[in-house]
Order: sequence, then structure tokens, then C-alpha cells
Amino acid sequence: MAILINEEKKLFTLNTKNTTYQMKVIDYGYLAHLYYGKKMDGDMSYVITHYDRGFSGNPYEAQEHREFSLDNIPLEYSCYGNGDFRTPAFNIKDIEGIHGCDLRYVSYEVMDSKYSLKGLPAAYTNDGEKGETLKIVLQDPQVGVEVDLLYGIIEDKDLITRSAIVRNISDADIFVAKASSMSLDFVTGDYDLIHFHGRHAMERMYEREAINHGVKKIGSTRGTSSHQHSPFVVIAGKDANEDAGDCYGISFLYSGSFNCEVEKDQTDQVRLNMGVQDEMFEYVLYPESEFVAPEVVMVYSPDGFADMSHKMHDVVRYNICRGEYKTKRRPILINSWEAVYFDFNGDDIVNIAKQASELGVEMLVLDDGWFGVRNDDKSGLGDWFVNEDKMGGPMADVVKRVKDLGMKFGIWIEPEMVSEKSELFKEHPDYAFVIPGRKPVMGRSQLNLDFSRKEVVNCIFDQMTAVLDKIDVDYIKMDMNRSILNVYSMTEGIQNNGTILYKYVLGVYDFMERLQARYPKMFIEGCSGGGGRFDAGMMYYTPQIWCSDNTDAVDRIRIQYGTSFAYPLSTMGAHVSAVPNHQTGRVTDMNTRGVVAMTGAFGYELDLGKLSEEDKTAVREQIKTYHEAAPVILKGDYYRLSNPFEAEYGAWMSVDEEKKHAVVGAVLLNTHGNHPVFYIRLRGLAPERSYRDKKTGVVYSGAALMELGMPFTIVPGNYPSYQILLDAVE
Ligand code: GLA
Repeated sequence: MAILINEEKKLFTLNTKNTTYQMKVIDYGYLAHLYYGKKMDGDMSYVITHYDRGFSGNPYEAQEHREFSLDNIPLEYSCYGNGDFRTPAFNIKDIEGIHGCDLRYVSYEVMDSKYSLKGLPAAYTNDGEKGETLKIVLQDPQVGVEVDLLYGIIEDKDLITRSAIVRNISDADIFVAKASSMSLDFVTGDYDLIHFHGRHAMERMYEREAINHGVKKIGSTRGTSSHQHSPFVVIAGKDANEDAGDCYGISFLYSGSFNCEVEKDQTDQVRLNMGVQDEMFEYVLYPESEFVAPEVVMVYSPDGFADMSHKMHDVVRYNICRGEYKTKRRPILINSWEAVYFDFNGDDIVNIAKQASELGVEMLVLDDGWFGVRNDDKSGLGDWFVNEDKMGGPMADVVKRVKDLGMKFGIWIEPEMVSEKSELFKEHPDYAFVIPGRKPVMGRSQLNLDFSRKEVVNCIFDQMTAVLDKIDVDYIKMDMNRSILNVYSMTEGIQNNGTILYKYVLGVYDFMERLQARYPKMFIEGCSGGGGRFDAGMMYYTPQIWCSDNTDAVDRIRIQYGTSFAYPLSTMGAHVSAVPNHQTGRVTDMNTRGVVAMTGAFGYELDLGKLSEEDKTAVREQIKTYHEAAPVILKGDYYRLSNPFEAEYGAWMSVDEEKKHAVVGAVLLNTHGNHPVFYIRLRGLAPERSYRDKKTGVVYSGAALMELGMPFTIVPGNYPSYQILLDAVE
């Protein structure tokens, strides 16, 4: 049993293979958090100490025991209004406008499997894996609110998940002002926060900072998880690094606006809350109705970032991603976007496919511009019928011509949007988010459709399936190209941003679930202007997401570095594109672009017809290499060998589970005259084994590669790259 309960002490212990999580019902029925970390036995309740700290309120029943204050006690799910003045996990407003409540323990229940959440992503167990759930019920009968705290465990994966279900048990409406999915209090320890900020075309930049007094907030109010912050953070011990030290990886399975706050309080304790964004959030709870806070997945490692990432990667790959392609190599694709943008016809697309298939590419992806009137990004969204004039006939003909080349076929869609210049907008202006009487704020000349409404989702779903039913489609790239604003839903009684945006996310999830169910063999790749909705929640529906609109190899090294802390390489769409690069103007050679793009789900996005013969040969070679290396890249353990924000080179490697095969990649970011050789210490190999470099045949000792490092001699030129495939010598 992974869940141990001491009835007498009301002590709850959750054990995974290597970690322990403990909590306890203390005086007056409060649920205190005791411990999360290395696996341990025993009762850790001694960590809670009581002092009268002054200006820290006391529960009424405590009377003269002024040393008992929730302001100083580590809690499982703190709420505003009962004496804890730290940033609360939960806050509620009643019909009179009074904020706050006082949640106390009522009961618990243990379930023999890992819970799931209706309409929301949640980690699941595979055959042979054991999952368990602990539900703890807290209640404030006076305010009339009940909260189920859900703790899911997948023991072998060292995974603990959390979610909360808030229920109105009164006979009046109440408003959920904040409902974090989890809260984690640290009584002891001095920590850093690692988070991943960014912007469009420069997502998930690594940042590490000390957790100081006050509150640090990251999150999104854009309706998507956003380019600006990833819903994933690491709480790291001061001395934690790639190889050693305490670290907690915390990932939110939600693709909408989110909030993560980290506070160091007056007595140096640390609290982390993660959940749906509470700014402008007042979810209306009618009597007996519920609000489900999306799931958070957590892993802990005492052995540094690499081990933490391996655990998180395994969870994402095997317990969150679904479908045929969850770990399978995806077809190597050519995408039409950076090759021709909107300027194409059916013959051009077949031609792109033909050139690509001659080089070994396996799938053609027809990007934006095939539907409605869409020759630039100012019109056509919402009109999901094939532009047969542009395509030179029915889409089925184009698809057939591509398939006759032996290739698979993929197509781009952007279901959540409408252009003002479209048939849909003319017919159903109320389907768009626009506040009546106000001018909407535009984004890429488009408006968001109100996906919180079922009939809007259905309208788009029906249009799209009418096209897709007629063609044999293998892949969909599902895009989303603006941040959400002008939130107003024609069918909602009370216009509350948070409620509508939460329902919007459920609408998007429902759309994808239905699409996948209708075309079970089809593979969906997520996208939001690249990595604007790159989160583990989305991965439940799309096991791969276009990592960034920035395809520049040098920038990608940093983007992929940050992304790799939480997400496995199998989730990162990565393409070789043209030079000068369309986003940065930088020129890197074909090898460098290939080595970087192979650190993910590999493809091409350029006019292959313009390549020199030399580059075409390089492309053929890359495809051959990717075929050999993909199983290690997509399923192996990933090691970051340098921090490209600090080091002169970017370097990384993947090693398969048996430690028999490894793929090493490196790019020199800075060249100087008479440059010293750089030695990179490899990781994750078996020290007792020898490994042969597949290309040169040189045999190295595993131990030496990890202790002394592998020499990389400098090749003159800009951003020289290195790729080494190692095989263990039997
Ligand atoms: C977004 C995507 C691109 C491309 C365009 C098409 O920006 O990230 O890859 O699909 O839309 O409009």
C-alpha cells in the first residue's frame, strides 16, 4: 500500500518508490502538512512548533492559547479568513460579498486506483502500474463550502498528483475567488525558484533566483498557458545542480490562464501555490454544484535536476501523453509554412512533397491558407471549407497525389478563431468574444471564438469534420494565434472572465477529445504561435507541440534547454529551416540546423528546391541518422551537458534505458582565434562499458568519457556542430 493511515493520530502518509509525503489532522481539525521528500518512516509531526508571534490570529476555540495560529503552521490547503495571512490557496466569497472561510477536516477515503477528472487532463496508469487515490474532505459548514483534496499516487513513477474539487453545500450561490490545485508548505530549508519565462519566438528561458521574503508570482492572464511563463516550476535546494541536490518539479496540467506564487513568510517558511489564475476569477457555484481544480503533478529528487527531469519526462511520456504516437517515432515531415507561406496552389504543394520524398521525408504538412478566403492572415478564419480554386480542385485530389508519392498527409487548423472578414463572422457575430458596445482589441487581425459555448464548438467541429471525413488525413497541426481578450459570453448570466475562460479551456479539450475519437489513427500536434500553449495538460491531447516559431538553431538551443527541464524531447516539434533564418536573420550551416532539430520530433520547413546539392546530401544523411537515433532521442534519458546561457557551447545527450546507445549533440556558440579544445563530460553511460563512436570507430571507456570528457576539436566557421552516436561494445 502506498497510502498509510494512522487512524488514531490522524496521520496520512503517501509513499512512492523513493519519496514520502505526510500530513496530519492537528488541533481543532486543521490539516497540517508535515513533509515531502526522501522516503522516510515515522511521524514527522514534531516539525510543527508553536509560539505566540503576535498579530497572528487564533481560532476561536484556542481561547488563551495564543501560540496556536494558522499563520505559522504548514498547511495542506490554506484558506483566507481563518488567521493565516500568507498567500492563501483558497478563497471564497458569499452572496453578501464576505470573503473567507475556515476549512476543517471531515473525513477521508482511499481508492484503489488513480482518480481521473471529467473533461480535464489527468495522469493515468498503464497496464501493470498501480495507482491509488486518497481523498480528504474539508468543510466549512457555516459558509457552506466543502473541498475534496485529491492525492493521486503512481508509486513506481515517484509521482504524486493533486487536485481539489470545491462544492457548494449551502442553499445560496457562492463565488470561488481562488481555488489552487495544490499548495505546498516547506517548514525548513533555504530554496531557489527555477522558472521559465519568455516571449513569442523565445519561449521557456531558464531563470533561477533565490526565494526571498515576499511573494513571487508567475502566471498568465492570456487565456492560454502562454509564451511568457511555463506552468512548470522547480523548487531547488541552494546547492542543487544537474547531478545532486534537492529538487521538486511541479507541473500544472492546464492550458489556460494560471497562477503560481511562491512566498517566504515572516518566519522563513516557504509556500508554493499552483492553480487556475485567480485574477478576475469569481467562479459562480450554484447550490450543489462543483468546481474542479485541474491537476498538478509533482516529483521530488534528492539527486539533482537530471534525475528530476527523467522522472517528469517519464510521467509526461507514459502517464500523460496518449494515443498511438505517445512514444512512437513520428513521420519526418516537411511543413509548407516557411517554404511558401500563403502563396501556393495545389501543384506547388504536390511539388514540395515530391522534392521532399526524394530526400526521404515521410509526410507533407499543408499549413495555413488552404480554406475560405485566406491569402494572408487578415481573413478566412472560421470558414473551414476547402478553397478549391486555390487548390486546383478538391482536397482529396491533392491528398491522393501526395499519398501516391508514398507520403503521409497532414493539415493545419486553427479552430478557436474567427476573422472579421469571414462568412462565419457575418452569420454569427455573437460567436466571437466581443464586449457589446465596445471596440474589441485585435490580435493578428482575428478574434477568439467563444469555446465556452457548446454550439460554437459544435459549429467548428462539424465544419472541420466535413472536410476531414473526405480525406485520408494522418496528422493535424492545431494552432491558436492570439491571446484571449474581450471576454464576453452571450449565454453566460454573469460575465466573469475567470469562469468563461475556464469553460473555454474545457471546450478546447472537448474539441480535441472528439476529434481524436473520430480519427483514432490521426496524430495531433499542438501549436500556439509555436510554444504559446506548451504545457503538460495540452500533451494529454497532443503528444507533440510545435516548440517555438523560432527555428534559428542557436536560439533553439536555449529554448530546448529550458523546455527540457519539464518536457521530454518527444513532445518538442523541431524543424530545419532556411538560412538566413526567417526569425533572426542568422546563418548556420545545414549540419548545425540538423543536429539541433534532431533534439526533438524532427522535420523540415523550407523550400527544398532551393538547396544546393551538398545540402541535399546532408539532408539525406540527417534522415538516415534520425532513423537510427530516434528511439534513443524520443525514449531515452536526456542529459543537459551545459547551460547554454553560461557556457560557450550548448551540449546535450540521450541514453537509452539499457545504456547501450547514446546520442550526443553539441554546438560551439562562440569561436575565437586559436580556440582551445573543449572537453565535455558525458553522463548516464555505464562506467564499466566501452562505447564505439559509430562514425569514426574509435572506442572509449564509459568511465573515461564521464570523468575526463570527450574532446571536441574546433572546426573553423560559425556555430560548428557535433553529433556522435555511441554504441556499447558487446
Ligand atoms: C503560427 C504557427 C506557424 C504557422 C502560422 C500559420 O504562427 O506557429 O507555424 O502555422 O501560424 O499562420
